[in-house]
Amino acid sequence: MAAPEPFDAVDVIRTKRDRGELSDGQIDWVVDAYTRGVVADEQMSALSMAILLNGMQRREIFRWTDAMIRTGRRMDWSAVDRPTTDKHSTGGVGDKITLPLAPTVAACGAAVPQLSGRGLGHTGGTLDKLESIPGWRASLSASEMLDVLRSTGAVVCAAGDDLAPADKKLYALRDVTGTVEAIPLIASSIMSKKIAEGTGALVLDVKVGSGAFMKNVSSARELASTMVALGSDAGVNTVALLTNMETPLGLTAGNALEVRESVEVLDGGGPDDVVELTVTLAREMLAAAGLSGGKDPADALKDGSAMDVWRRMIAAQGGDPSAALPVARETHTVLAPASGVLARLDAYQVGVAAWRLGAGRARKDESVQAGAGVELHAKPGALVRAGEPLLTLHTDEPARFDRALEALDGGYFIAPEGSRPDLPALVIDRIG
Ligand code: URA
Repeated sequence: MAAPEPFDAVDVIRTKRDRGELSDGQIDWVVDAYTRGVVADEQMSALSMAILLNGMQRREIFRWTDAMIRTGRRMDWSAVDRPTTDKHSTGGVGDKITLPLAPTVAACGAAVPQLSGRGLGHTGGTLDKLESIPGWRASLSASEMLDVLRSTGAVVCAAGDDLAPADKKLYALRDVTGTVEAIPLIASSIMSKKIAEGTGALVLDVKVGSGAFMKNVSSARELASTMVALGSDAGVNTVALLTNMETPLGLTAGNALEVRESVEVLDGGGPDDVVELTVTLAREMLAAAGLSGGKDPADALKDGSAMDVWRRMIAAQGGDPSAALPVARETHTVLAPASGVLARLDAYQVGVAAWRLGAGRARKDESVQAGAGVELHAKPGALVRAGEPLLTLHTDEPARFDRALEALDGGYFIAPEGSRPDLPALVIDRIG
């Protein structure tokens, strides 16, 4: 006969419902028992909602994170002869930064073992972007990951099923129960995976604004400081930057479109904001790994060394870095309705438009179109002329244009010439 369970799920739910603190024993048990299927989805949904409404103390968040890590395995990079450092973004529109960043940091002497995800909803996923490169493979065994990391200095691939399996199950449940936004659950979800990934240093890019989970600076700061404390407590040297996500990053949102822009950055060009964020995050990653004072990331982008790592990294995962990228079959151009200064271009609305054009998925099992997305011809602060292109929409299925255009309705504003829109800085704050 199976041993009796030491706790009762309903008691655990009642404790949090009544604003109590969960004991270490309750947390260890409920996370493990949910992963084993002993605690039912409806019970975990109720508990997640109680956590969203009533919060958790730092001690509870630490214990919850640790319990999630213990449901799977921890990766070990001690066979790599360079310090390991990684970056995690909480997700935004046009956020292709991992693509130029990982090879840049590797070109400056660190090793970057990055386990990434796919996009869901209006934010894109790094793996979806890289999969638009012909032949590139996201799934690697642990020994293949180690080989790519040792031979190129960077590996970006899918997390295996044994990395914090509790989080996989819980994240899918939160997604359909309106409980994604709970700060203790976001912090423990992200940090359980990053700590289990085994990186020695970590830089968190916590996005703030319409296109991000965190819509205001104070909640972003709370999330960032919770994650920094979780990382530091687990022996991972962790810092966080709060960065602007009111408008998309760069000039593209969509898989192959973003790869093309990332290659421009690796080639020493590309949009200013993508270059600035890549260089800023790279410097932070190197400093967190104890490697400041060596080669500067801005130089690695200019002298071709970051591009060299990129080409080797893509080829090591079966991709052809010289192959032409997929292009959508149809385009539709949105013209500027007036002349003046582009004062606002909303990240969330561009993200939804890209998603509706086929760049993202609504359900986990859907596929994405490699060529779909939105191309921007101007960023907030730029002068635009009536009748000139403002945005180009790309898709393989023209029937998608109407819904994408609906998503963009009211998403941009052109102020009279001579106005000076109040634009937020790209990097808002640093915590750590
Ligand atoms: N990303 C994650 O990995 N987990 C969350 O809970 C939210 C964003």
